[in-house]
Amino acid sequence: MKKIGVLTSGGDAPGMNACIRAVVRCAARYKLEVIGIQRGYYGLLEKDFIGLTPRSVANTIQRGGTFLGSARCEEMKTEEGINKAVQVLRKEGIEGLIPIGGDGTFRGVVALAKAGDIKVIGIPATIDNDVYGTDYAIGFDTAVNTALEAIDKIRDTAGSLQRLFFVEVMGRDRGFIALDVGIAGGAEDILIPETKTEIEQLCLNIRRNFKKGKKSNIVVVAEGDEAGGVFQVAQQVWERLRLDYRVCVLGHIQRGGSPTARDRILASKLGAAAVDALAEDKSGFMVGELSGEIALTPLEETCTKRKRMDGSLLQLVKVLAT
Ligand code: F6P
Repeated sequence: MKKIGVLTSGGDAPGMNACIRAVVRCAARYKLEVIGIQRGYYGLLEKDFIGLTPRSVANTIQRGGTFLGSARCEEMKTEEGINKAVQVLRKEGIEGLIPIGGDGTFRGVVALAKAGDIKVIGIPATIDNDVYGTDYAIGFDTAVNTALEAIDKIRDTAGSLQRLFFVEVMGRDRGFIALDVGIAGGAEDILIPETKTEIEQLCLNIRRNFKKGKKSNIVVVAEGDEAGGVFQVAQQVWERLRLDYRVCVLGHIQRGGSPTARDRILASKLGAAAVDALAEDKSGFMVGELSGEIALTPLEETCTKRKRMDGSLLQLVKVLAT
């Protein structure tokens, strides 16, 4: 193998740049040429390429976002899109591809990997951390810490005015961010898509907490909670308790910012592992980290299997919120 391509796709995640850097610099060890594919799969289909060298990725490890750009590309979900991508890669002499992104990103390349001659190794990067086959995806740790900083600030004002706050964090399908942020931020309740939200019980908890003398009440709500958005939940509580409340949606600030040390290290390890895997002629896998060890998971499983959540943390919130 002489030439490989790297791209970032889907929602950007802090640490993507550190990962591209690791791919480029580890590829140099194998004397592999690296092509940066801009704007995700769109850039692949439109041949939006730039050459990357160890020097051109200098000063990127600390930067949020992705300097290659990203996109969600509908065309890559079609047979025509895959065929076109294979043709482009063949014509450019790109023999290996490293897509960095979430499960949607990998869904796009399962067929491409099966087409045969182009080797594909994926790297998980999504703040949602909902990819099967890795304990942590690149970007999750930074997003959790960003949301945590915000919640600590909200607590200051909530405590001063004895207020009830509903804070929405990201997580379209899963509640991993909400769970970690809720525990670390000392939330009174955490609402996630994985568990049914009982409004009556939530109201009971809120009333009890204030009766116990708590100065504030913070409810962390995952964006994808099955009870609806944070505003619906807050409204339903208000209808029952008639308690003054405030809603804060943290939104896309969770996606930006300089990656934490943990994300930079994970990005560096996974970037290196992906290049090693390609150099060993492996294909059709995602490199992840499970219990501290690099693990290869078939790409297909990353988007068909459901990642397990540590349910004991939800129990812990209840205990700690007393
Ligand atoms: O990257 C994952 C994610 O941040 C989800 O948590 C969120 O629902 C979604 O992306 C938002 O996507 P967009 O940037 O397209 O609004």
